[in-house]
Amino acid sequence: VEDGAVLRDLVGRRVVVTAGGTREAIDPVRFLANRSSGRQGVALAHAAAARGADVTLIAANVDLETPPGARRIDVESAAQLAAAVHEAAAAAPDLLIMAAAVADFTPASRAEAKIKKSGDDGAPALELVRTQDILRTLVSDRTALRDADPGAGTGLIVGFAAETGDASTSPLEHARAKARSKGADLLVLNDVSTGVFGAADNAVRILDAAGEIVAEAAGDKTVVSHTVLDEVVRRLAPVPW
Ligand code: CTP
Ligand code: CA
Repeated sequence: VEDGAVLRDLVGRRVVVTAGGTREAIDPVRFLANRSSGRQGVALAHAAAARGADVTLIAANVDLETPPGARRIDVESAAQLAAAVHEAAAAAPDLLIMAAAVADFTPASRAEAKIKKSGDDGAPALELVRTQDILRTLVSDRTALRDADPGAGTGLIVGFAAETGDASTSPLEHARAKARSKGADLLVLNDVSTGVFGAADNAVRILDAAGEIVAEAAGDKTVVSHTVLDEVVRRLAPVPW
């Protein structure tokens, strides 16, 4: 068995993973997209299934095979992804991982017909509006559940952050701020300064909600996935030793 050496420590756990990158339609033939291939999300779904989890993969424009045993829901836009995630979250999974690259902005309106050039010059202005921050909404919905019933809202939420850093702030500093503001249990920092989109390998640092580094992993996306799941398992079912 390919993953035969892996501990079956997610048996009986329901896991939802989003993967890929959303597409926001401008008109019937054009869209705004991003460079996410979905490989990290699919690798996470694969690894979770190998460890025995019941996996739902919510795939945004992913041109990769579905991991064996996983249930797959295909979506295109950020709004469709949000709807699919919230429906899956309503079933109270043990773990929800937002590995998808979700559009932050979407066209304010979608043209019914293909936008045509008119005249020799000039170009239309594209008006954008913000999309829902799905991860933030999941965390606040969970807080509301916990406030209503202290025994509810026990599922873990994991986010990803692809950061490049800039003149004044390093990728790690950006990720720390994001970890603290989003409130996910874990935030996986992907330093994309050197470009990892579509690559098999990845190097990540895993931060907790306080912004502290709890683990690091480098190697192929399977190795990274198992490191993320190790941190998840630690928080799902703490074993005293
Ligand atoms: N995310 C989300 N919904 C959005 C945008 C992002 O759920 N509309 C999730 C991503 O799936 C990821 C995490 O939030 O797990 C961080 O995404 P990222 O793009 O790094 O952060 P943003 O909050 O969008 O901030 P910015 O792009 O401005 O850095
Ligand atoms: Ca973003």
